[in-house]
Amino acid sequence: MLTSLPRLAALLLALAALLLAAVAPAAQATSPAAGADEAAPLVIGHRGASGYRPEHTLASYALAARMGADYIEPDLVSTKDGVLVARHENEIGGTTNVADKPEFADRRTTKVIDGVSYTGWFTEDFTLAELKTLRAKERIPQLRPRNTLYDGRYTVPTLQEVIFLSNRLSRELGRRIGIYPETKHPSYFRSIGLPLETPLVETLRDNDLDRRRARVFVQSFEQGNLRELDRVVKVPLVQLLPASGPEGAATPQPTLGEIDDYADGVGPPKTYIVPRDAEGRSLEPTSFVDDAHARGLLVHPYTFRNENAFLPLELRRPADATADPALYGDAFAEYAQFFALGVDGVFSDNPDTAVEARAEVLAAG
Ligand code: G3P
Ligand code: CA
Repeated sequence: MLTSLPRLAALLLALAALLLAAVAPAAQATSPAAGADEAAPLVIGHRGASGYRPEHTLASYALAARMGADYIEPDLVSTKDGVLVARHENEIGGTTNVADKPEFADRRTTKVIDGVSYTGWFTEDFTLAELKTLRAKERIPQLRPRNTLYDGRYTVPTLQEVIFLSNRLSRELGRRIGIYPETKHPSYFRSIGLPLETPLVETLRDNDLDRRRARVFVQSFEQGNLRELDRVVKVPLVQLLPASGPEGAATPQPTLGEIDDYADGVGPPKTYIVPRDAEGRSLEPTSFVDDAHARGLLVHPYTFRNENAFLPLELRRPADATADPALYGDAFAEYAQFFALGVDGVFSDNPDTAVEARAEVLAAG
């Protein structure tokens, strides 16, 4: 019997719907947002749990994971012998005891890096063995005096040690702890013959982490190395945007449309989403989160910190210019606002506060 035309059309439509349904999950699986088994929004332990321990130490990362962070964030620079180590910058006078080491006194020097002059000691002038003789110390003791209790206890970790730690913590905690490495000054390191990307890619591959769903994000403030990495690795990439804002940046910053070409997410300062006036009060939120989402980009703003010094004026305690910068303000209110605005993750120095704030938002539905 011949099928009538309307019935045939209905059958074809049904078949098309079935085909689309079958294809959709595969398409989503290629997106970093498709990690349906991941908590959302993500809590990224910024430099570990740097609100409580000297930053970029194994103790700081371990505490972040035990506090509930989904990812731990090592900033990466290179040693003289090409090993990636976790430091916020290659000048290490502010975060290690190198100044107290007479054997390294002659390494103190001045360098211009990305157009800025720095005087101190630099990781690229130390072999890993030499760097391992140093001990980490608190970067901002005036704001975090309690953290100085831990000065001198921890070494500068390698990226490989951070990965071993994340594996160990994943087993201990019964959930996967991701890593969120950032390449620091990649053009500079390339210019001195110590490119960061080569050992980064090798280390990810050696650890079977160059996979789309490996719980790894790679971030950078530079576009060039992200574009290059996009051709080489499978892990999602995140374009960081500078705190000074596009108009104040030394080099032109990419638009969301350009970022969409090579990255999977964007890491803006908090003020791109909730700007502040000259006195530090919050202004009306921008459309940044919606604009990025419209491009399919994840939004992971930085940096959430409990201290008054980093909060908008109305959330400081007391809520005025007399607030002690080292005391805590209403950090919960700041997380609640950003979660309500739809961010996909937060870089936090205080992962326990971020996790508790997220639980409240999720519980409220
Ligand atoms: O990577 C996100 C955020 O950490 C960028 O700022 O300077 O703390 O590395 P910074
Ligand atoms: Ca960082």
